[in-house]
Amino acid sequence: MVAHSELAFRTLAFEHGATLAYTPMMHAKHFAASANYRSGNFDFDPSIEGAAHGRPVIAQIAANDPELASQAVRILASTGVDGIDLNLGCPQGIARKGNYGAFLLPQTSKVEAVLSAMVAASDGVPITAKVRIQDDLESTLRICKAIQSTGVSLLTVHGRTRENNKTNLSPASHEAIRAVVESLDIPVVANGGVERPEDVPAILESTGAAGVMSSEKLLELPSLFAPGAVGDAELTELEVMERQLALTREYLVIAAEHFPISYGGAGGANCVKSHVFKMMYRLLDLPPCHGLRAKLGGMKDRNYDVSNVAAVVEEVAALLHDERRPLLTNESVSWYRRHRRPQAPPPTIGSVGTMSERKARIRERVEKLRADRITTAATD
Ligand SMILES: Cc1cc2nc3c(=O)[nH]c(=O)nc-3n(C[C@H](O)[C@H](O)[C@H](O)COP(=O)(O)O)c2cc1C
Repeated sequence: MVAHSELAFRTLAFEHGATLAYTPMMHAKHFAASANYRSGNFDFDPSIEGAAHGRPVIAQIAANDPELASQAVRILASTGVDGIDLNLGCPQGIARKGNYGAFLLPQTSKVEAVLSAMVAASDGVPITAKVRIQDDLESTLRICKAIQSTGVSLLTVHGRTRENNKTNLSPASHEAIRAVVESLDIPVVANGGVERPEDVPAILESTGAAGVMSSEKLLELPSLFAPGAVGDAELTELEVMERQLALTREYLVIAAEHFPISYGGAGGANCVKSHVFKMMYRLLDLPPCHGLRAKLGGMKDRNYDVSNVAAVVEEVAALLHDERRPLLTNESVSWYRRHRRPQAPPPTIGSVGTMSERKARIRERVEKLRADRITTAATD
């Protein structure tokens, strides 16, 4: 996950039951050409990660040129990563512009050329790919079979189309993933639509996939894959609060030791802050915490470090211990659900209340939008 699956977050996820992690997507062209780009974007640490440590990591690249992809693969293959993945699922405008990700996917002969070159250059390190489904099943299966024929070892299928993203999210198609599983010989990982721990075995069952990948829910709940993890509905509000605080604190300790490298200029400190916003989303969304949410949002890259962020987290903890926290067990207000909740009616600002009440409401909305923007300022 761009600016989100850095070493510190991977470590946290491994500590809580994840069995495989991907680096953020890196551009093959820049990766191959620039040592600066590599040191600012690639943070795999073979002394603590990799299959030898029980923490397999796949490095992910974006590429549309066989030669540049092979150059990146040759470098990556010598680092100790357990696999190298081609991202064929990115739906962002930048991927359209660069002709990679989900925009390259329908160009089957190009995809085959890039993946075949990667397999040939990898010196035995497994090459994998991640795709989105197409509008129709026939095209999805045709493309997936073509990908398999290049010699890749594993395919991840996100059960949503290219258009089905951002705020236009609908449930992932597990039926389409099942059809891919049944049509291929290589292992398939199902992606999309994991909202609760119990979804993981259910998706494995309904798709027949070899594994399940999660992104958005994992960012909010890094212990999603922990054995025995349960959904929030089964917990008390205090338990939800303590769990989120414990995960955030643990992340901050790891991040202090392995401070995130600066992803393409986004800044390691912003990466830390963004994780805290997601893990603490529902806590910070409670009215008594709005001021602290704004404080966290207002911290600028150079003016704070992990200990400043940790101090705000402790302020939130102290504040909430004396408050009613009825929203914490309400999954419909989770970060995962932010684009999935029913649309609120248009605001009535301007039609009711005194001028100062209206101003206060506007300030509140701006603050909320700013915090939401920080938490969603990432691409896939
Ligand atoms: C912050 C963020 C960053 C992401 N970055 C990547 C990425 O670098 N590569 C990739 O293949 N997908 C990326 N994705 C997409 C996810 O891997 C995943 O396909 C998508 O979120 C659907 O899964 P979910 O329903 O579990 O969230 C990203 C998603 C998020 C939320």
